[in-house]
Amino acid sequence: MSDLANRVQAALSLVIDPELRRPITELDMVGAIQGSEDNFSVEIKLTVSHCPQAVQIEQQVTEALSKEFNGSQIQVKMSVMTPEELDALKVKLRDGREPKSNPFALGTSTKVFLIGSGKGGVGKSSLTVNLAVELAKQGHEVGVLDADIFGFSIPAQLGTIDRPTRLDDMILPPIAYGVKVISIGMFLPSNEPVAWRGPMLHKAVEQFLTEVHWGTLDYLLIDMPPGTGDVAISVGQLLPNAKSIVVTTPQEAASYVAQRSGSASHKIGQEIFGVIENMSGLKMPDGSTLELFGSGGGQAAADALSEFSGTPVSLIGQVPLSVELRTGSDSGNPVVHTYPEDPASIEIAKIAQLLIDSKLPPANRTLKVDIA
Ligand SMILES: Nc1ncnc2c1ncn2[C@@H]1O[C@H](COP(=O)(O)OP(=O)(O)OP(=O)(O)O)[C@@H](O)[C@H]1O
Ligand SMILES: [Mg+2]
Repeated sequence: MSDLANRVQAALSLVIDPELRRPITELDMVGAIQGSEDNFSVEIKLTVSHCPQAVQIEQQVTEALSKEFNGSQIQVKMSVMTPEELDALKVKLRDGREPKSNPFALGTSTKVFLIGSGKGGVGKSSLTVNLAVELAKQGHEVGVLDADIFGFSIPAQLGTIDRPTRLDDMILPPIAYGVKVISIGMFLPSNEPVAWRGPMLHKAVEQFLTEVHWGTLDYLLIDMPPGTGDVAISVGQLLPNAKSIVVTTPQEAASYVAQRSGSASHKIGQEIFGVIENMSGLKMPDGSTLELFGSGGGQAAADALSEFSGTPVSLIGQVPLSVELRTGSDSGNPVVHTYPEDPASIEIAKIAQLLIDSKLPPANRTLKVDIA
């Protein structure tokens, strides 16, 4: 390689593709380099012609080159990879994996957590989003899969309207707050309702796991739909390594349905990582605590699940009611990002630490298939 090409490559190795999160030089996106050090052109090959990040990439390339070649005439020519170049890139991205294979099968080094509950509206999605953003804030590679096909809410809670980019059969997930995220909502024309049956739900979840380019994740958090239906069983089959986190409110009735959801996870062979009680006591300005939804539901669910599964299940956190958490969910600004000092954020950060401290299940664990 010429001196010019070496210097250009070195400068551009600092430009990270926003979707693939790797240097553009590693992704073979730098094409022809022509001219001399004081007047040259560089070709940047995008993966797809309508790449939504094209402007951002061009800007970063121009900046990086202007810094390295101060005062030179530089022309950045944007082009698109040939089908052969794109195929070669996909092989590279798969890192030796077969196309459409499940990167989270037994033996994965990704910790997979399912956030579920028997009941709707207890805060599964809010906790999934905030735990994910907290883990990403701490420098981990995190993905969120919205498995709530009928009632998806993750894109709105993460404040993203981005659509995934397709490289043929490979789907690049949008990234929000450093978290890779995929949801059925990103594939629908507008707020269209989804009316699918069991096998299609299974297919959707399977596609999200196998066709999305997740890269090497430290954590994959799955926002489960309420209840113990088809999606829960599909996820159980596809993710034998997953541990489930059961969300409940302090209310007794909610705790009872949480127990049912936890016991369903246990039946399909998933380890129950713990129970989170959400919407616990609200700290009042006078220092007292308002227990709007009663108290004790989280511990009751944990106790019942311990008895049912024969292994201890702990209450891993009590996230208080929080106005900031609620407004943050509504506006797409996760509370752990906007108000890290909020009591809810502090509790969520403690729970995130427990996920970090947890161990991966042994690779040779067998999955129970008896779901009767
Ligand atoms: N700790 C909390 N304090 C205040 N509001 C909360 C708290 N947790 C969740 N909420 C609010 O409660 C509502 C329901 O939360 P969320 O959508 O996360 O629940 P869910 O269990 O995912 O619901 P669904 O079953 O419909 O998917 C949202 O408006 C959210 O902002
Ligand atoms: Mg939800």
